[in-house]
Amino acid sequence: MPPTNVRVRSAELSDLDDLVALEEHSFTSDRLSRAQFRRHLDSDSAKVLVASTGPHRFLGTAVVFFRKRSGVARLYSIATHHATRGQGVGSALLDAVEQLARRRRCRALRLEVRADNTGAVRLYERLGYRRLCALAKYYEDGADGWRYEKPLD
Ligand SMILES: CC(C)(COP(=O)(O)OP(=O)(O)OC[C@H]1O[C@@H](n2cnc3c(N)ncnc32)[C@H](O)[C@@H]1OP(=O)(O)O)[C@@H](O)C(=O)NCCC(=O)NCCS
Repeated sequence: MPPTNVRVRSAELSDLDDLVALEEHSFTSDRLSRAQFRRHLDSDSAKVLVASTGPHRFLGTAVVFFRKRSGVARLYSIATHHATRGQGVGSALLDAVEQLARRRRCRALRLEVRADNTGAVRLYERLGYRRLCALAKYYEDGADGWRYEKPLD
């Protein structure tokens, strides 16, 4: 069961501390910096979503990129607070990203994931993402990845 009253909304400047802290806890490489998050908050080609309960309890985030004249949106990052993992927050964020991409008339959502991130791979496959290709040494630390895509109809 998801934590009660999970709401997914656009990130605001006041979320920056939580966004940076979650990024540091969740990833060992390829992290978004505070300056990058701040830029994405102001950008037409990016959207930072936040899952929370009430005004203060920060549960997770997803970052999605859009490109002009491209019908494919890109999920750049997704992470949830470790204390509430496995409770549906990641799925709620992905659902919100897909709705947003549909509203922007994208025909598909694409993402990359580390090949050794079995939990995330299972989540994406359960939600209908299909493997497109392997990405050799894709990550800063040399780890391999997979590219996945889901059609949005
Ligand atoms: C991957 C991640 C975003 C999933 O978020 P979540 O809130 O646990 O997502 P949900 O509860 O909706 O879905 C849980 C699914 O993720 C998987 N999962 C991944 N990590 C998990 C964890 N630590 N605890 C429980 N489930 C986990 C489970 O297999 C589960 O799949 P199932 O429902 O088929 O059993 C989250 O584990 C996370 O932040 N991980 C660290 C950052 C990361 O790896 N991001 C993905 C980069 S591509």
